[in-house]
Amino acid sequence: MHKNLKDKIKPDVLRTQLSNIYGFSEKISKIPDLVKLTLGEPDFATPKHVKQAAIAAIDDDESHYTATWGRIETRKAAADFLKNKYDVDYDPETQLVITNGVTEAMYDTLATFIEEGDEVLVPTPTFSVYYSLIDLNGGKLIQINTQPDDFLLTPERLQKAIAEHPNAKMIILNFPSNPTGRTYSASEIQMIAEILAKTDLIVVSDEIYSELTYGQKHTSIARFIPDQTILFNGLSKSHAMTGWRIGIFAGPANLVEQIAKVHELVTTSVMTAAQVAAEEAFANGQDDALPMVKQYIKRRDYLHEGLEKLGFKNELPEGAFYIFAKIPADLNQNSYDFCIEVAEKAKVGMIPGSSFGAGGEGYVRLSYATSLDNIKEALNRLQKYLD
Ligand SMILES: Cc1ncc(COP(=O)(O)O)c(C=O)c1O
Repeated sequence: MHKNLKDKIKPDVLRTQLSNIYGFSEKISKIPDLVKLTLGEPDFATPKHVKQAAIAAIDDDESHYTATWGRIETRKAAADFLKNKYDVDYDPETQLVITNGVTEAMYDTLATFIEEGDEVLVPTPTFSVYYSLIDLNGGKLIQINTQPDDFLLTPERLQKAIAEHPNAKMIILNFPSNPTGRTYSASEIQMIAEILAKTDLIVVSDEIYSELTYGQKHTSIARFIPDQTILFNGLSKSHAMTGWRIGIFAGPANLVEQIAKVHELVTTSVMTAAQVAAEEAFANGQDDALPMVKQYIKRRDYLHEGLEKLGFKNELPEGAFYIFAKIPADLNQNSYDFCIEVAEKAKVGMIPGSSFGAGGEGYVRLSYATSLDNIKEALNRLQKYLD
């Protein structure tokens, strides 16, 4: 006789929905001969010098726990990387922690700040893991729909949200954005920062796509408001290292110290050889993203134009590797049903815009972290399907 103990589970966990992106991808992956533009990870190999650093570390028996915050050499290299690239200053001894990907940094940070009923402002559409973590911690998601402003948060819309939610505790920003590929210029992000500086909001800024920008250099919000920003970055996207699980959180020492407690309880320390590889990537691979960026630009341009020709309006993205395209008005505007139909009939895989929150319905996300040949094939198939 089995007992059913489900009623012992915390309501916050029961209530938490996981991202349906992975589930959706898996579901349509079963369709034979599908061309997938669903993936949120680079199709490039990890740079060779980085792999070699890890192999050497394993051969040298670097197989022990490290400092819980991460090897100091890796933290120093990460802090130098952030300084060189984005002109932000973090003391590697007291202000920066190496995590199992940005995913863990997000968990640690939300677990540190968010309790039952806390309001969290989130410009949408955005990466849905934030929604799950807000749920898990009993927080209250306040979506700021940016769709009417071409998916960029405007000062006006931010001010309105702050006025309507004066007790909100946190805002979560992500730029360049998953899923829209949009990002902010230096002056745009400075204006957002100036508004936030007048508040007591904790600003969580997920800048994991900062190395993948096409045209303008990335400006971190931490340059303007370091005292209230928890900055996330990592190697998953810049160095095609999703499986290595290297992320960073950095911020004011008195906050980082507390978030680091959660980090230590979650994971003790990140795999040692991966941290050695990360040191190599941050120190000697500062421009490793450049050849990838060249390829992404070619693919982005091709996909952008191809989609426009087929009637899928979309803004030319300035970063990341996604295009967020409007489903043509004469087709099914329910993005989930539309994506299922296109996967089954056209054999093209894409992600429903509704997965990313308010403002996403009626859109689809296509990833160009796949070969140009795949992109061409997907467009040909869509064309045939529409004909
Ligand atoms: C915006 C955003 N943040 C974080 C992550 C996860 O990063 P990591 O691999 O470092 O956990 C992703 C992955 O798709 C992402 O799109």
